[in-house]
Amino acid sequence: MATVRDIREKAGDERITMLTAYDAPTAGIVDDAGVDVILVGDSVGNVVLGHETTVPVSVDGIAHHVGAVSRATEDALVVADMPFLSFGVDEKDSLENAGRMLKEEGAEAVKLESGPHTVELTEKMVQLGIPVMAHLGLTPQHVNQYGGYPRQGTDQAAAERMLELAIEHEEAGAFSLVLEHVPSNLAAEITDALDIPTIGIGAGPHCDGQVLVFDDAVGISEWTPTFSEQFGNVRAEMESAVNDYVSAVESGEFPADEHSHEESDLEELY
Ligand code: KIV
Repeated sequence: MATVRDIREKAGDERITMLTAYDAPTAGIVDDAGVDVILVGDSVGNVVLGHETTVPVSVDGIAHHVGAVSRATEDALVVADMPFLSFGVDEKDSLENAGRMLKEEGAEAVKLESGPHTVELTEKMVQLGIPVMAHLGLTPQHVNQYGGYPRQGTDQAAAERMLELAIEHEEAGAFSLVLEHVPSNLAAEITDALDIPTIGIGAGPHCDGQVLVFDDAVGISEWTPTFSEQFGNVRAEMESAVNDYVSAVESGEFPADEHSHEESDLEELY
């Protein structure tokens, strides 16, 4: 089982792989492939649950998926993504919500979409034994404030502020930092300035690791961001299998003899 220390020690040395997973079979596939970190992302809201954004995801909702992923994961580090307003409003609630992911659902760490409001909270969580992955750049829980999903850190002042916040979160004890949709030269600068690993998504090649949403990476999603890559076409495979099933049932080809059995004692019934 990977630990936060294993992940931290890879910084500058070995590239870190991270993918999201939301259920047990997917977690098994991702874990067997040797992925270092499985993130139970709040992207479950739009990727799996049919919401437009991650905003409606609840603590109970994410907990359900964290439990499923943890039960199926043997080697990777499982990180629970804390949903919108489940942290940062009230310290006691934040700690209880995050603690629940470790105590009840089997995660080994939590991820917080970070900002000035999460520096002290990160320190408190780490003191209490809740490892924290920070997340700067595009933080999708701010979609209503941004009015979309724009690239972040694109001017000097914003880039400098992001670098400062990255350092503050490292000093607060975060074991790693996700950088989302930021210029690759800014990601390189932040990666250079930190001892903890950076894990990029839409942040260029200079981060210590990379993360993608599982459904985007394997080609299930109908739409993917420009910074993503489809490494397969699982959607086409699924469509073809479902079409074949429909045809086989409609034509009477399925179920065949090998899928059924006749009970000789019941012969007189037919
Ligand atoms: O929720 C999520 O999937 C994420 C990753 C894209 C970093 O936060």
